[in-house]
Amino acid sequence: MRGTVLITGASSGIGAALAAEFGRHDFKLILTARNAVALQQVSEALPAGSQQATIVTADLETTGGVDALIEAIPGPVDVLVNNAGSVLYGSLSDQDPEEIEHLLALNVVAMTRLTRHYLPRMLARNSGMILNVASVAGFQAVPAMDLYAASKAYVLSLSESLAEQVRGTGVSVTALCPGITKTPATDHLVDDLPEFLVSAPESVAEAGFKALMAGDVICVPGRVNQGLLAVGDLPPRAIVRRTLGLASKLGALIIPSQKVP
Ligand SMILES: NC(=O)c1ccc[n+]([C@@H]2O[C@H](COP(=O)([O-])OP(=O)(O)OC[C@H]3O[C@@H](n4cnc5c(N)ncnc54)[C@H](OP(=O)(O)O)[C@@H]3O)[C@@H](O)[C@H]2O)c1
Repeated sequence: MRGTVLITGASSGIGAALAAEFGRHDFKLILTARNAVALQQVSEALPAGSQQATIVTADLETTGGVDALIEAIPGPVDVLVNNAGSVLYGSLSDQDPEEIEHLLALNVVAMTRLTRHYLPRMLARNSGMILNVASVAGFQAVPAMDLYAASKAYVLSLSESLAEQVRGTGVSVTALCPGITKTPATDHLVDDLPEFLVSAPESVAEAGFKALMAGDVICVPGRVNQGLLAVGDLPPRAIVRRTLGLASKLGALIIPSQKVP
């Protein structure tokens, strides 16, 4: 057994694929999300030889939910995977204020509070790993999904700062930055996109796991995503921003303005 991993948002998509990946590599799994039935299904579908997973249901959009999750886990957590996240498309001016709070509570506050809880404990043991699921959307402004991109820029920036703070301590922090990945969150979008732009959650999870084990600070899975980011790095930031702004205004990035379940 290689240690205990706590995976948030493990009931579907990238989180479920990460559960399978850690299960395959002999980690003891603690899986959390709100949907107990879906978590149970993920647990039952773990690769042969995986240890039995512990399931803890928690709503991480609430302070009480984060506290309850922490309280429900008795022993040390060797690997923390902050994966749970939600998406809002469209403009901040059109968003329901409550939906904004939900997104920030999950994408920003919950991962920060879980990291604040587990990181000092890892440092005290000189051992531990944190995998934060950000996004390629965190590298630049994305006017078609402003709030989501800003939340992922936060995850990326915090991960990079922490990774440098803990360098040489036996603890590492990795930001996993997937591009568009076929999950329940994107099911309604990806069918219209060219296949080469869409990753499978299993390949994202495999890349994230490898990067975590290697102690990499940033992992962008897939050559297409790496290429797009490299091209985006070439022109001045203002040009990239204006291009993405224009693209969203022209409807090149038409995405329904709705929260994806
Ligand atoms: N799919 C993509 O294209 C893509 C690209 C880049 C980054 N990402 C990031 O990857 C991560 C996983 O996304 P995904 O695409 O795999 O989405 P998904 O399939 O919708 O999974 C989201 C997970 O978060 C959990 N969750 C949602 N609200 C929660 C809450 N209030 N409390 C606790 N858990 C909650 C969901 O479980 P319950 O509903 O059971 O609570 C589910 O397990 C997110 O951080 C996302 O931003 C996704």
